[in-house]
Amino acid sequence: MIISSPTDYRVTAKSKLPPFLFHYADGGSYDEHTLRRNIEDLKAIGLRQRVLNNMSELDLKTQLFGEQLSMPMALAPVGLTGMYARRGEVQAAQAADNKGIPFTMSSLSVCNIEEVAPTISRPIWFQLYALKDRGFMRNVLERAQQANVKNLVFTVDMPVAGARYRDRHSGMSGPQATIRRMWQAITHPRWAIEVGLLGRPHELGNISTYLGRPTTLTDYMGWIGDNFEPSISWKDLEWVREFWQGNIIIKGILDSQDAKDAARFGADGIVVSNHGGRQLDGVPSTVHALPEIADAVKGKVKILVDSGIRNGLDVVRMLASGADCTLIGRFFLYALAADGKEGVENLLDIYNQEMRVAMTLTGAKSVAELSTDSLVRTNYQG
Ligand code: GLV
Repeated sequence: MIISSPTDYRVTAKSKLPPFLFHYADGGSYDEHTLRRNIEDLKAIGLRQRVLNNMSELDLKTQLFGEQLSMPMALAPVGLTGMYARRGEVQAAQAADNKGIPFTMSSLSVCNIEEVAPTISRPIWFQLYALKDRGFMRNVLERAQQANVKNLVFTVDMPVAGARYRDRHSGMSGPQATIRRMWQAITHPRWAIEVGLLGRPHELGNISTYLGRPTTLTDYMGWIGDNFEPSISWKDLEWVREFWQGNIIIKGILDSQDAKDAARFGADGIVVSNHGGRQLDGVPSTVHALPEIADAVKGKVKILVDSGIRNGLDVVRMLASGADCTLIGRFFLYALAADGKEGVENLLDIYNQEMRVAMTLTGAKSVAELSTDSLVRTNYQG
């Protein structure tokens, strides 16, 4: 397949991956209205074309939490990344590092912190869920600190998991899931050899290290249901703060009131997110929620945003709508599944080029110059 756009990676990933993995990444919760809204609301935002401004010098760099990013983008935390390519977290982290942006490791990654962090030059970011087992949370925070992690992304929008209808159909969960997944592996032999065999061990690496024994991935969503903490509240964040010296970025904010509370708590950043439309179907798109949140807390906390970003033009739309940085989840996974580290590097180059075109033709010479003035207000749905 000729790759010219990020979407081409989605098509390639679909053909290469066993369906249970493709649909786990691609799908959302319930009827996937929010998943679609994330994409459609972004596309509906008009960019304001400005010309004749000598745009030969463009600067995509940005400063965030004391780090320089080559462009306002980081790889989002995605559980099970190591099922999408051989030692997938290592490959993705190296691609991000080579392109000058952060990699965020999910606490539910296949490779553990100790395997990934030493393979790259910049500190990884680490994502944590509120889990019932406080021992794990404390252990992993200590290990992250030892691995020089400075930025903790604490996800708060998953006290329970949204129902993923697609997962039951695809074999990720549901009846006879193990047998169906085995059949899919047999019928996708390239994946079966490259990842299924050579990519072992397949486990929740951070948790196995803590428990001192292997964990299995047989019932991943069931595991989430059993182990996630439904009672999560601001007290948990206070608890985390006792053990964590670095920055805290709260992921899963969709309401300006919660954003204000995050600022009051002293968070260093928030991620405006509906978990890629994977949690509560029916909530607004992130780009719809973003302007009000930016009005409430811009300048007090750094505003990151994810969900629905499909290309570099969408990155520009998010920045112009109030974000300081974007997170890319599904699409780096598709590029990783399609072509490993090189795929992710190429994807990031594509985003970079697309951002350059959008900034050139909206007359924004730097990320700081992107604002609602870069948008056509009459078409602006956000
Ligand atoms: C986990 O974070 C998921 O969205 O499946």
